[in-house]
Amino acid sequence: MSASLNPSSLPFSPQPSATALAQALGVPVFAPQWHMPQYPDGAVGPWQMKRMGVGMDRGYYSGPCVTSGSTLLLRQGSEGRWETWMSLSPMEVESQELACHHARGHTVVMGLGMGWVAANMALQPSVNRVTVVERDGDVLELFRRCRVLEGLPQSAAAKVELVQADALQWQPPGAPVDFLYADIWLHLAEPQALAEVQRMQANVRAAQVYFWGQELVLGAMARVQAEPGTPPWPDAVDRAVHDTGLPLLAQTEAGYPHLITRVLESCSARAAVR
Ligand SMILES: C[S@@+](CC[C@H](N)C(=O)[O-])C[C@H]1O[C@@H](n2cnc3c(N)ncnc32)[C@H](O)[C@@H]1O
Repeated sequence: MSASLNPSSLPFSPQPSATALAQALGVPVFAPQWHMPQYPDGAVGPWQMKRMGVGMDRGYYSGPCVTSGSTLLLRQGSEGRWETWMSLSPMEVESQELACHHARGHTVVMGLGMGWVAANMALQPSVNRVTVVERDGDVLELFRRCRVLEGLPQSAAAKVELVQADALQWQPPGAPVDFLYADIWLHLAEPQALAEVQRMQANVRAAQVYFWGQELVLGAMARVQAEPGTPPWPDAVDRAVHDTGLPLLAQTEAGYPHLITRVLESCSARAAVR
């Protein structure tokens, strides 16, 4: 882990071989408009940050693309197997950009990971404070060593507060919470995810809530009533949102039911893992 330079502030630019591969395959190079910190390789405890080369991938709702210089946050499990907890992949970025777009006021993020969401939320003018709740001290230490906050303008970095606590227990000490974003899971739409978000919201009482993989959870609930893309689909999605009992973020420019349909299609084309 480098301690002297500040790689997190370098601008994102794809490697030349990525552009050549994309041209040969007739697919785009994944080039997000978001802030993409340049994480140095490093490790703390069972966690490791590892930079990747050029590869093929697909998004949470978009099709195949070429990726370049993505970084993975890996954790070695008790049986020695490495699990990917977060990355700068198209799937991760697309599945969390709605959270970044709609964060506002005092935003609480459950689960630090690489701090990609926290950094991008802090850059939003609509956000004045980002409280990040992370239970694992090794993740917090790895994030500090990557100097992600040093790569932000001081006005954005100053909005971020890191708290070591269990997301399922944590309660805001004072100021009300405007937006709660939860992402504490290894896999998309884990069976307990909705119940865990409901538990967090019982403690946090945020004005609006969004969670990672929400579209897949709502899609599965709505599918009991209607087929994706059919005329009764939007009502089935509305009912699913209502049945969660949560003040969920459920709006997009092209319509949230349409986004859920795209996510269901794209995720059936790939395994529902990080
Ligand atoms: C998938 S990562 C979050 C990725 C993050 N959205 C980002 O932008 O990098 C999940 C994080 O949640 C943390 N976590 C898991 N269970 C937790 C819990 N009960 N309370 C707090 N943090 C938890 C993990 O240690 C991990 O850092």
